[in-house]
Amino acid sequence: MLMLFILAAFQLGLYGCIASPAASITATRDESGVVKSPLDVFEVQAPLRASYGGTSCEQVVLQYTFAGSYGTPYVGTYSPPEDCEFTTTIFNLSMTSSGINYDRLGLIYFGDVEVWRTTTAMPVRTGIFWNYQKDVTIFDTLLRSEQKVIMSLDNLYDSVFTGAYNVTITALYYNDNQTLSPADLILPISTQSSGQDKASVISLPDGNATVSFTLPRNAERAVVSVLASGNGDEEFWYRNVPTQYTDTFNNSALHAYSPFREVQVLIDGVLAGVGWPFPIIFTGGISPGLWVPIVGVHTYDVPSFEVDISPWLGILCDGKAHSFELAVVGYDSKTTFGTVGSNWWVSGSIFVWKDAGGNQTTGTPRAALVRPASPLSYQHHHDIIGPQNLSWSQSLSYSSINNYTAEGSNKTISALTTGTSYFSPSSKYSSPINNTFSYPITFRTSSTTPVDATTANSTIVASLDRSLLSNAVPILSYLTSPSIFGTPQVLATRQTGSSVYYWNDTYYEFAGAIDPAMGTSGSTEQWYSAVSKVGVYGRHVKAIDGYEPVLVVDEEFPSAIAVPDTELVGIGK
Ligand SMILES: *[C@@H]1O[C@H](CO)[C@@H](O)[C@H](O)[C@H]1NC(C)=O
Ligand SMILES: *[C@@H]1O[C@H](CO)[C@@H](O)[C@H](O)[C@H]1NC(C)=O
Ligand SMILES: *[C@@H]1O[C@H](CO)[C@@H](O)[C@H](O)[C@H]1NC(C)=O
Ligand SMILES: *[C@@H]1O[C@H](CO)[C@@H](O)[C@H](O)[C@H]1NC(C)=O
Ligand SMILES: *[C@@H]1O[C@H](CO)[C@@H](O)[C@H](O)[C@H]1NC(C)=O
Ligand SMILES: *[C@@H]1O[C@H](CO)[C@@H](O)[C@H](O)[C@H]1NC(C)=O
Ligand SMILES: *[C@@H]1O[C@H](CO)[C@@H](O)[C@H](O)[C@H]1NC(C)=O
Ligand SMILES: *[C@@H]1O[C@H](CO)[C@@H](O)[C@H](O)[C@H]1NC(C)=O
Ligand SMILES: *[C@@H]1O[C@H](CO)[C@@H](O)[C@H](O)[C@H]1NC(C)=O
Ligand SMILES: *[C@@H]1O[C@H](CO)[C@@H](O)[C@H](O)[C@H]1NC(C)=O
Ligand SMILES: *[C@@H]1O[C@H](CO)[C@@H](O)[C@H](O)[C@H]1NC(C)=O
Ligand SMILES: *[C@@H]1O[C@H](CO)[C@@H](O)[C@H](O)[C@H]1NC(C)=O
Repeated sequence: MLMLFILAAFQLGLYGCIASPAASITATRDESGVVKSPLDVFEVQAPLRASYGGTSCEQVVLQYTFAGSYGTPYVGTYSPPEDCEFTTTIFNLSMTSSGINYDRLGLIYFGDVEVWRTTTAMPVRTGIFWNYQKDVTIFDTLLRSEQKVIMSLDNLYDSVFTGAYNVTITALYYNDNQTLSPADLILPISTQSSGQDKASVISLPDGNATVSFTLPRNAERAVVSVLASGNGDEEFWYRNVPTQYTDTFNNSALHAYSPFREVQVLIDGVLAGVGWPFPIIFTGGISPGLWVPIVGVHTYDVPSFEVDISPWLGILCDGKAHSFELAVVGYDSKTTFGTVGSNWWVSGSIFVWKDAGGNQTTGTPRAALVRPASPLSYQHHHDIIGPQNLSWSQSLSYSSINNYTAEGSNKTISALTTGTSYFSPSSKYSSPINNTFSYPITFRTSSTTPVDATTANSTIVASLDRSLLSNAVPILSYLTSPSIFGTPQVLATRQTGSSVYYWNDTYYEFAGAIDPAMGTSGSTEQWYSAVSKVGVYGRHVKAIDGYEPVLVVDEEFPSAIAVPDTELVGIGK
């Protein structure tokens, strides 16, 4: 069966620079490159600062071991640091685990507001660890008052699943030379369950993702930030099929609602903006053999998307309550938007800045939503006519070709998602800033499931090639720290890999399953090139995956590097 979703697609050509000589980096590996235990299972990340030294102060925000934690989140208290001048806050997440387990989703809330969504690596018996840093300065207003900290990490822990996750989050506070203009209010689009000691994540499509808020009359800027990730039947939404094709094969049910997903932000029921999700691959995803020791892009920091709702303030500042809703839609057929499978975990935050002058914001948004004949692309545009000429618009395109053969056991997936969002830096500027992204992905998997799982193992043969290319001024960071985030942050990264992976359907001994003695094999390579507020950074890594992985290439560059293009099968550039 061949599925085709196509629309004129374009490739961004803004990347690729010349590498300068490699600087050596330290890793816990021996002279032949074999990584020692505990394994550092890492996500490639550019440093967030020239140096992590020089903090004004530091404190542990959370220290907890998630063992049998299903349905029971960690609950604690955050207190702002005393006698500490700071402008920039970075959270350092550190996790360790040993044993056998799946990858798990971690949700970190301050009160009802989600501040970080992460996922875990899958442990091995001899132990793994990882560290990841996230700049959380946009939450400055929360960081300066006491908060209930809730982290959920639903983990099974028994005689089979023996890996617990030991989590430490340390806050690093820096006093940088900058004027900070943090949001005055951060309002949650969530279940608002912190009072019941629960993470406030909403499950769609079954949950209720509509909340109601009365904004201050003098709100002068408002931006919605949304976290959304597919799980269960929706973990690999990009290889789902239109609903009428789910029973094409006798022995292999395919998941429904098309390989296209759109996460929507609606105000009073009207579409205000969308995110087309990055195809995040958890460490058990496609093939677990691909992700030891290099994990997938955004594994430890599920990306949020931003919708500038400032053009709506003329309506929202009327002193009345307005509804804010999140929705996830797919195509039920090739032409009809509809619901999705179970489930998407979503939550959002409305960041609001008030006018110091205290005047009410007025003006009527002029909105136009254009959906061209092809269902898989549209543009929409909102303008406000009033004291601020703030505008928000998006232009997105998507195409995919998916080929399912061998009774559904062999899948070849190719998809290209690209887009630009245009936002007004401020009324002082006449032209908007263009934020662009591109997510090409292609992979093949063929899997065999034994007739008798007690006598033989499953096999997954997989190969993958995907990239994340973006050139963007992050809106919330820019509004919070304009002097630091005034220029676009450019990222180009590509991962390729292949793996043959055996596993026993009823005994999830991941460590054994990737043991080279069993004849499994795999290799993952990544190119990473960033231009950020810190400067330029490049890294090129290549690993022979497995129980004792070998980093055959590990080079870091004080420059952007050339990142070769992902080669999509059947989709033009
Ligand atoms: C993050 O925490 C880990 C574990 O304590 C530590 O090894 C690492 O140096 C920390 N990283 C930073 C940037 O502070
Ligand atoms: C978890 O890690 C912390 C920090 O390394 C350590 O102090 C603590 O003993 C660990 N807890 C468990 C249960 O291993
Ligand atoms: C702080 O930034 C201002 C404005 O960019 C600059 O003029 C000043 O020299 C900086 N001060 C320090 C100590 O770096
Ligand atoms: C969802 O919650 C909102 C706010 O509590 C409420 O007004 C609305 O009726 C609910 N919608 C559904 C379908 O339950
Ligand atoms: C699926 O099952 C039906 C009914 O048993 C059979 O007629 C058909 O040939 C099967 N199709 C395939 C592709 O095996
Ligand atoms: C705010 O409103 C007051 C009273 O209407 C007016 O005098 C003042 O000029 C306004 N300020 C701004 C910045 O528009
Ligand atoms: C808003 O845009 C209109 C049309 O481009 C322009 O005439 C007007 O001067 C702008 N207003 C402000 C406050 O920049
Ligand atoms: C789909 O896959 C099959 C089996 O690998 C191959 O023969 C066929 O050419 C593919 N079709 C397309 C359009 O790529
Ligand atoms: C399915 O994939 C396997 C492994 O890549 C290959 O050997 C087999 O020929 C494929 N079968 C079909 C029908 O494409
Ligand atoms: C941003 O996009 C608009 C509309 O496509 C275009 O006119 C403008 O030149 C772009 N600006 C930049 C800086 O690329
Ligand atoms: C799966 O593999 C484990 C470890 O080799 C073995 O103990 C167990 O019996 C196997 N399970 C089945 C159902 O074969
Ligand atoms: C199945 O996997 C187990 C480890 O989980 C291994 O001991 C066994 O040899 C494998 N069996 C086959 C037939 O590959």
